This record gives sequence, structure tokens and C-alpha cells, in this order.
Amino acid sequence: SCKDPEKSQQEFQEIISKAPKNSEWFAFSDLYQYQGFWFTPKFLEGTILAQEQFRHQSNDIILCSYPRTGTTWLKSLSFAIMNRNNSDSLINPLHSVMPHECVPFLEVDLFQRKSIKYYPKVPLVATHLPYSLLPDSVMDSTCKLVYICRDPKDVFVSLWHFLGNVKDKETKIDEFSLQKGFDLFCNGVSLHGPYWDHVLGYWRASLEFSENILFIKYEDLKEKTSLHVKRLAEFMGYPFSLDEQREGVVEKIIEICDFHNLRNLEVNKKGEYAIFESVVVQNNKYFRKGQVGDWKNYLTAEMQERLDCIVDQKLQGSGLTL
Ligand code: A3P
Repeated sequence: SCKDPEKSQQEFQEIISKAPKNSEWFAFSDLYQYQGFWFTPKFLEGTILAQEQFRHQSNDIILCSYPRTGTTWLKSLSFAIMNRNNSDSLINPLHSVMPHECVPFLEVDLFQRKSIKYYPKVPLVATHLPYSLLPDSVMDSTCKLVYICRDPKDVFVSLWHFLGNVKDKETKIDEFSLQKGFDLFCNGVSLHGPYWDHVLGYWRASLEFSENILFIKYEDLKEKTSLHVKRLAEFMGYPFSLDEQREGVVEKIIEICDFHNLRNLEVNKKGEYAIFESVVVQNNKYFRKGQVGDWKNYLTAEMQERLDCIVDQKLQGSGLTL
């Protein structure tokens, strides 16, 4: 049953007052551990609200990811795929709207009463929630999920750059040490982390419910974009017809969502995106390098070995390698 927002508020206050807390990442805010994962208060509040109040629509497709794994790319591709035959949108909104404003965030936009205009509305929702914390309404349904994951070393490097660039009204970040962030990440203490648990939850679910969960790796999407974009479209129920393929529609979508194309658009060069009212990010921070293996420019061989070793151990026996 649907609880009223005040009850959810009380529940949130109670959970946060008891939750283990970590104050070492001074970007965003303190992190609180809830059911095995770390959240900022705002994300935790949204999680609880979403768990209690989200009711999926039968054709919803939920784009799931850990931050910095390719969410922005997945959002743009899915949005462009779904929207390609929409006669209302002669000019593709991705040319003038930041991808995050095209697809609402489940635990952020839907329940924290932020007024964002989505144009045009497509049945897409995005979330950073771990699989085990998805609302029952999603778990009980045959709603389709797409999950994107990425090499943990690149995720960490991307996250570290990102956090150093987030403008938070309460905290001023000048320099956040790479080593300190790395230690925290390796200990599983990172926003929505531990990363490997986030990935494993969706990986196992994708094996069990293969018809309803599509699991994609950022590296595969980079290497064989066309193949995976076609797979994505088919999974979403918007397959490319042979005519469309002949007419180059797949390539067109890939081009629109290409890193360099999006990055050079006015909206993404100059605009800002308010995740929450107090957390504002410049759109260009979502388009940093877009490469595979940039970690090599930041992590030492020792750091590489340490993180690889942790991840290998955690993924052992799962059939997944990262
Ligand atoms: P880097 O920091 O390594 O460049 P998320 O969207 O989940 O926050 O992930 C952000 C990462 O995806 C960043 O990685 C960003 O540059 C990259 N990215 C954003 N848009 C992309 C695109 N269209 N194609 C490929 N990578 C993209």
C-alpha cells in the first residue's frame, strides 16, 4: 500500500539516525550505509520514497547504473531509439536538452518534487539504486531493466574527477586526494557502493531473468557500438526495421549520441544540471574523456593490482569479469 509522504519522512529520519556514517568523502556530503550500500542523505531519502511510492507503468524501461559507468550515454541512446519516430520532435531534443533532463531519475526527480520539464515524454526512468533496493513494484513486475557497467578502475578515476567538480552549497572542495578516494573506493565506501556488489546484484538478476534484464558493458558498447545499439533497441521493443537499417538510422542515432557530438553542443558546454537544489553540476562534467583505459594515466601499477585483486575475488564464481 502507498504510504503518505509524512510517514516516509519519519521513516527516513529514523533510518538515517541509526545508519553507519562515513565523512571522509567530503564531496557531496557524508555517506550513510543502508542495506549494504552507501548513500548521501538526499539519495537515501529518495530511495525510501521511491520504494514506497513508485508504481511502474507496464511499458516502463528502467535504465540502471552505478554512477560514472556510462549512464549519460545509455540515457541518450535509449531516448534517441525510442524517440526516433516521434512526429512531434522534428528537431531531436538531444540537440538542445542535456540527456539527464530527457530521462527522469527515479529516486531523485520523481519523488523529491523537483519541477523539471521532460520533452517529449517517453516511458524511460533511470536509477542508481542497487538491484536489491529497487521498489517492489519493479521487482514484482515484468518491467524491463537495462544495466550498464564498466571497468572499476575507469569508474573510480571518472568518479574522482567528477566529485572534485561538483559544486555543493555546503562544502567547498579544493582538492580531494586521489589516494584517499581510492582507498575508500577499494573499501567499498563510495556513493552507491560497494561498486562490485552493485554490479553483482544486476549480473545475477540478469542471469535469472534474462528476458527482462539486459546487461551491457561500457567497453563493449564502445567497441561494437552498432551491434549493441541494435541489441538495445530490440530489447526495448523498438527494433530497427530492415528499411531503417538500410537508411542508416542506426548510424544516425549513434552519431547523435556520440561523445564528441554531445560534448560540443552548446547545452552541454555551458549548461548546468541541478541533481538536487543544492547540488549543481556543470553539464560538461558529464562529458570528460569518454575513453576506455584512462585509468592508466592516474593509477599506479600497485593501485591497479590492488583493485583488480579485490574485484576478481568478489566476482569469483559469478561468471562475470570486469
Ligand atoms: P570519463 O570520466 O571516463 O570520461 P555517467 O554518465 O554514468 O556519469 O558516466 C560518465 C562517464 O561516461 C564519463 O567517463 C563520461 O565522459 C562518459 N560519457 C558520457 N557521455 C558519453 C558518450 N556519449 N559516449 C561515451 N562515453 C560517454
